[in-house]
Amino acid sequence: MFTKIFSSQEIEAAAACLLAGELVAFPTETVYGLGAPIFFEPSIAKIFQVKNRPSDNPLIAHIADIQDVEKIAQELPSLFFSCVEHFFPGPLTLIVKKAPRVPAAVSGGRDTIALRMPDHKVALALIKEVGMPLVAPSANLSGKPSSTAVAHILEDFEGKIAGVIDGGPSPIGIESTVISLLDPKKPLLLRPGHLSSALLEEKLRVKIAQPDSLLPTLSPGVKYRHYAPKAKVILIYSLEALDLYLKKNKKVERRIFVPNSHNLYATFRQADKELCAEIILLMNGVQDPALINRISKTQ
Ligand code: TXA
Ligand code: MG
Repeated sequence: MFTKIFSSQEIEAAAACLLAGELVAFPTETVYGLGAPIFFEPSIAKIFQVKNRPSDNPLIAHIADIQDVEKIAQELPSLFFSCVEHFFPGPLTLIVKKAPRVPAAVSGGRDTIALRMPDHKVALALIKEVGMPLVAPSANLSGKPSSTAVAHILEDFEGKIAGVIDGGPSPIGIESTVISLLDPKKPLLLRPGHLSSALLEEKLRVKIAQPDSLLPTLSPGVKYRHYAPKAKVILIYSLEALDLYLKKNKKVERRIFVPNSHNLYATFRQADKELCAEIILLMNGVQDPALINRISKTQ
């Protein structure tokens, strides 16, 4: 299959591919997603197949209009609407009760659904053109770093999907924050993301419970090794320690960098392309909980 690169003006053609049952990757403000219309079961099966994604790892439904929610979710608590008011569109994913008509494969058989309204013109226009929400996991092979540019999508899916819309580099570069609203009295942080818990708590005036040992049951995605390059990732916390390490370990093909949300995945992918044996992350000064969470998954 030829993988077409659509420009951000070619929304209609990309939507036509999706409506014909093909997969198309598209930009969002966080990372690129690999899309399929939410009611197209064969397309959803294709997502799991091309990504090699475990079938119990549910997908996020991306909406363009808050009215879309009624078709795919039910029993929405008032906290859902305050989240929408403050943070939609944006890098926040909300877990609520699923409407029965949504195919079971979307949610890995659960009776819940993840909802997000991306803050990206191309993504919103595409969803509107398709005429229904798009389910989309991050557009990467399972276990590999997420894609933050078209080149990453081609690396993973060239010849396997119908197309990708080029929206340039992802503005944020790290995935959305996922919170569960299933118990609205006790919202739970299932995946830290670009939107911090502190900001959520401040705007929503509610305490967000932090992950505990139940997390892998509540959010299947977190139990898999993720976001990881092939090279060994080594964390070093001071320049002195780096100096010492380099003196002891000479002649190794490696990359050394200070990670941030914009360079993390791209540098992982680049290091693998260059067949580096190791990647050293200089961690002094790195404080972003989402970034630290993703880096911890490489260990
Ligand atoms: O920023 C993002 O969220 C990107 C862009 C493309 O929107 N998407 C993304 O999707 O990161 P994915 O599939 O790579 O991660 C979705 C996460 C997984 O950890 C998954 O387990 C969790 O959301 N999730 C999805 N539906 C869920 C549900 N019904 N209950 C609990 N967790 C769910
Ligand atoms: Mg992912």
